Amino acid sequence: MAVLLMLRSQPGLRFLLAGLLLLLGRGSALSPQDDNSPFGSLWPLPQKLNIEAELYRLSPATFQIAHSPQSSASVGCSILDNAFRRYFYYIFGSSTERDQLLAAGGSGGGGNIAELSQLQVIITASDPECNQHPSVTTVETYEIDVTQPVAILKSENVWGALRGLETFSQLVYEDQYDTLLINKTQILDSPRFAHRGILLDTSRHYLPLKVILETLEAMSFNKFNVFHWHIVDDPSFPYQSASFPELSAQGAYHPVTHIYTLADVKMVIEYARERGIRVIPEFDTPGHTQSWKGIKNLLTPCYNGEKLSGTFGPINPSLNTTYEFLNQLFKEISMVFPDAYVHLGGDEVNFACWQSNPAITEFMQKQGFGSDYRKLESFYIQNLLDIVTSHMKGYMVWQEVFDNGVQIKPDTIVEVWMEKNMKAELSKVTLAGYTTILAAPWYLDYISYGQDWQKYHQVEPLHFNGTAAQKKLVIGGEACLWGEYVDATNLASRLWPRASAVGERLWSTEATTDTSDAYKRLTKHRCRMVRRGIPAEPLFVGHCDYEYRG
Ligand SMILES: *[C@@H]1O[C@H](CO)[C@@H](O)[C@H](O)[C@H]1NC(C)=O
Ligand SMILES: *[C@@H]1O[C@H](CO)[C@@H](O)[C@H](O)[C@H]1NC(C)=O
Ligand SMILES: *[C@@H]1O[C@H](CO)[C@@H](O)[C@H](O)[C@H]1NC(C)=O
Repeated sequence: MAVLLMLRSQPGLRFLLAGLLLLLGRGSALSPQDDNSPFGSLWPLPQKLNIEAELYRLSPATFQIAHSPQSSASVGCSILDNAFRRYFYYIFGSSTERDQLLAAGGSGGGGNIAELSQLQVIITASDPECNQHPSVTTVETYEIDVTQPVAILKSENVWGALRGLETFSQLVYEDQYDTLLINKTQILDSPRFAHRGILLDTSRHYLPLKVILETLEAMSFNKFNVFHWHIVDDPSFPYQSASFPELSAQGAYHPVTHIYTLADVKMVIEYARERGIRVIPEFDTPGHTQSWKGIKNLLTPCYNGEKLSGTFGPINPSLNTTYEFLNQLFKEISMVFPDAYVHLGGDEVNFACWQSNPAITEFMQKQGFGSDYRKLESFYIQNLLDIVTSHMKGYMVWQEVFDNGVQIKPDTIVEVWMEKNMKAELSKVTLAGYTTILAAPWYLDYISYGQDWQKYHQVEPLHFNGTAAQKKLVIGGEACLWGEYVDATNLASRLWPRASAVGERLWSTEATTDTSDAYKRLTKHRCRMVRRGIPAEPLFVGHCDYEYRG
């Protein structure tokens, strides 16, 4: 330790030290890096990587991230131009921080460490997809080769490049003398699962736009690619509809300050697109619709014996006007949200109000449903699915829609959310041939004392009874942060880094299960998120070199 302290004040000797550590090798008692993973601070862990002991230094005065002359993309592909700027900033910090790095000798007096002067990005497909939206079939594969003097990042399209830029930024680290270093490295990486989502709930509490954008930014640090926007629910309806402005006027917590305008929604979609993230809105029906009260005769009036009770239940499935309304609303939604999928909810429908209403009873009889209210629910959902299909959208639904035997299209995505019998459910849904995503083990709104991220990290989504073909139908999962106890004050610290554990499970290989290695990397990754402005909570006792300043 004394040796290190002495060297700290003598920059000229620092490279001798690096050489010395190299000779002594990892695990030596002298190494100040005993708490280091052999994979540095990489999160999620790339699928294939080789990190060598050879070091290069990076200088904010000279380093560039640039399009390679061999790339099919060039300046003007704004999704990449903006990403280059973003990652330059994340690697080198603000201009003040860059000045400090320079003053500390980050660029000058580099001694015998070779300088890495560029990261060149090569897009190989003839269409780099600069102006497109990511989709469920988007290829996110990328390759990184860090070697002197120019590092290469290669991918088929812009989406792989975005993932690779994040990885490259995670390879750069600062030594104890403020020099930015990167090891000679080769990486070949792609996600294990195509759908890696975060669910935010903007109904139970309104989330300001800034919080949503910050979440999207943090998602990109963790290679998430789907924002499942549970935009409306019982408590409030903040989506401002152009066709039905009365929905938010009467259903939002406040008709002006607590809504998402069309411009807001467009900003979320574009901000997400720039980070390779799809936006899938959820308009959950026929239950969870108390806030839809702005539409006359939409909700079922409940009865108390023979009399109207004054309360309302799920959407009224017996009226033609219901489907005329849904057709208009989903026509609008299909145009506003570019993704090929919308989430239609369909969970937790309470039958009591339908049972109390004589007009519903009469409708049931006419339709020959007997007293099976699941048939009535299926009737409703079937009509809704036909409407959404007519607007050229695919759909996701919560598992009850499948469980209740509703006829769904072959490309429907079923989301499994009930933890009880989760494995049996995965077997059943995939046996029936449906694509599935898993949310059940990752309800992050449930909190507890201690390191619950480990539990999320240890989940194996394919650990259920089924054939290889069935397992292929599980295309990913989602970390869900329901909003009962969450608003702008605590969202980021509740979500991060606990959701990071889910991010790694869904990206990295099945064999990435070493919790103690994960702890070392996640501790550093969490500090990196803090440094980038996300108030991610600590894993356990310790400190960050750059503490959160708010
Ligand atoms: C990077 O190189 C340094 C110096 O040679 C070495 O000590 C370190 O273990 C390498 N880092 C990784 C993650 O392999
Ligand atoms: C509702 O629509 C169906 C099908 O178009 C029609 O047969 C029925 O008469 C309509 N009901 C009412 C009350 O208008
Ligand atoms: C698979 O099925 C077998 C036999 O029914 C059962 O013992 C086992 O627990 C099941 N495994 C999983 C992961 O559900």
